[in-house]
Amino acid sequence: QTTITVTPAVLGFTAVPKGFDDLVKVPDGYTVSILYRLGDPIDAATPAFANNGTDTGFSKRAGDHHDALYYYGLAATGNARDDNNSARGLLVMNHENITQVYLHANGPTSTGGIRPEAEVLKEMECHGVSVIEVTRSTAGWNYVQGSTLNRRTTPLTPVSFTGPARGNALLSTRFSTAGTDGRGTVNNCANGFSFWGTYLTCEENWAGYFRRAAGDNAVRGGATAKDVVSLNRYGIPEGASGSYGWSTVVPADAASTVYARWNASATGASAAADFRNEPNQFGWVVELDPYDPTKAPRKRTALGRFGHEGCWPSNVVAGRKPAFYMGDDARGEYLYKFVSAQPWVAADANATDRLAIGDKYLDAGTLYVARFAADGTGTWLPLVFGQGGLTASNPSYPFADQADVLVNARLAGDVLGATKMDRPEWTAVNPVTGEVYLTLTNNNATVRPLAGTDAANPRHYNDPRAGVAQRGNPNGHIIRLKETGDSSEATSFNWDIYLFGADSAEADANNVNISGLDASNDFSSPDGLWFARPQNASGLVNPLLWIQTDDGAFTDRTNNQMLVAIPGRVGDGAAKVITNTGADGTTRNQLTYPGKAATQATLKRFLVGPKGCELTGVDSTPDGRTLFVNIQHPGEDGNLTTLQSSWPATQGGGSSTARPRSATIVITKNDGGIVGL
Ligand code: FEO
Ligand code: CA
Ligand code: CA
Ligand code: CA
Repeated sequence: QTTITVTPAVLGFTAVPKGFDDLVKVPDGYTVSILYRLGDPIDAATPAFANNGTDTGFSKRAGDHHDALYYYGLAATGNARDDNNSARGLLVMNHENITQVYLHANGPTSTGGIRPEAEVLKEMECHGVSVIEVTRSTAGWNYVQGSTLNRRTTPLTPVSFTGPARGNALLSTRFSTAGTDGRGTVNNCANGFSFWGTYLTCEENWAGYFRRAAGDNAVRGGATAKDVVSLNRYGIPEGASGSYGWSTVVPADAASTVYARWNASATGASAAADFRNEPNQFGWVVELDPYDPTKAPRKRTALGRFGHEGCWPSNVVAGRKPAFYMGDDARGEYLYKFVSAQPWVAADANATDRLAIGDKYLDAGTLYVARFAADGTGTWLPLVFGQGGLTASNPSYPFADQADVLVNARLAGDVLGATKMDRPEWTAVNPVTGEVYLTLTNNNATVRPLAGTDAANPRHYNDPRAGVAQRGNPNGHIIRLKETGDSSEATSFNWDIYLFGADSAEADANNVNISGLDASNDFSSPDGLWFARPQNASGLVNPLLWIQTDDGAFTDRTNNQMLVAIPGRVGDGAAKVITNTGADGTTRNQLTYPGKAATQATLKRFLVGPKGCELTGVDSTPDGRTLFVNIQHPGEDGNLTTLQSSWPATQGGGSSTARPRSATIVITKNDGGIVGL
């Protein structure tokens, strides 16, 4: 393979120590400012956020749990797109979930199991997507309250379905008996972008919002009925209560089904009379045009239905079909890619009807699922009706057509023998080499026992501390793929493991700290993953890789964090697995990692977040000199008596008793340079 000269060879900043402060901490020489917080008004008419649980009108305010984000340049004036403008643009971001207790004056209420409509409306509107205009002046960055491009997408926003499952009976509900339309998007986690100027938002843990009555299996024809098999595979067993009880609302408008649809029970006379199929309307990649608030988002069914974490595109090459890499974030789920049926035409990058270009590239193509072999090779298995056992005669799940394969992509992946992974989170694509990185955040010992390890998910270890054992892969790892021929269209690939999370202070170094982390860069549970935008003028040949954590196993060591890496290439790593008996007499996989160890020169902690938060979205301006980062759910483990966090009110360093708010921050280098170098 071609040798890539890595420039820079070292990271220039001093690593941020682990810590527990209620602050965002960055290296010396950098400045943090707060840009866009939960509740901030986006139109001129909405009042400032009181942050005491009395606020309303969240369809015109920032939502909660800021997640993935992406920057879209605007011309200096007007609403035209300009990909190269680093001083004015649109920030598009997901609002994945809520910290319910902080949204209401005295926390959430219910009366006899019935939630109040106003509370549930607020909770629903705190989910979805924000599009906000942001500008840089000499005073720094601000969002523009009242910009005509500002827009919220929520679980109530009209959406349409496109691709092979549009109009299929599996999508038919009382709201849209034709199965062509739906309402909104929910639990939007990671993201992707397109080369024609649109945003791809991904529906992750949508299953948890649905209620399904006890006894519902029998109504549907018993435990082996196809829709029961599907509901169970996707995490909506009978008796599921549904997060936040949204379906319990008795609306003032008796004809409204905005709330009732979160009850997926098959209680009506027919599928067209109830919302038994409403869960099939979620779990999709949703495309929206940030520059055109008049256009409804489109759910792209060709990309399959699962717990979509993100949807990151391959680099595009004229004449070659683009690919989109997608993790399904649950224990033991799969990595997917979608390859468009259409070869890339460079002129499409600047078309004005951007969603029509999305129709062209995202509504027809082939969805694949990954199988990793022990020898460092891998195969993309096509999810195509009629192939590989995806037929009507399949004994475990009879598929009716391609729509059934896409709606039930997890079941199709099972049939094809895809590799069960340690919770696939974000994908990222090196913009220079095209190599694909995937965070595998962690797994437990039940789903990843010693006997259930494989080369791509090799780690299962016991904790030597007394009373703690059988931890599976609690700290996660990052795997990476090189497509055969470096082609997005390839049906095979090579892979290695780039990096293993670990607590550098923990004993049993061969099994725990495989990558040789030290105090300056140890981490656990990698989640967010993003390659810096290429900076040709700066001489940055191999762009920086940013890694964000969402950890449970390491929060006794530090608040969640963000690291920067110079990752090298596939083939540098290649962990080797030998099964043997450890010093404590326990058989386990003994891993050696002869490739590149993480060093302070190539992996450093750049940021530590406030208490109770997770680091989520990250993107920069095109010039790389402004970094936008999302801080999700500070104070997540608190309550109204003990807030846990009062960030971002604490960011100046003072004390505060304010309720915590998810927020977007801006990071700049004091000398005006590229962030991270
Ligand atoms: Fe929403 Fe997999 O994190
Ligand atoms: Ca995530
Ligand atoms: Ca996570
Ligand atoms: Ca989260």
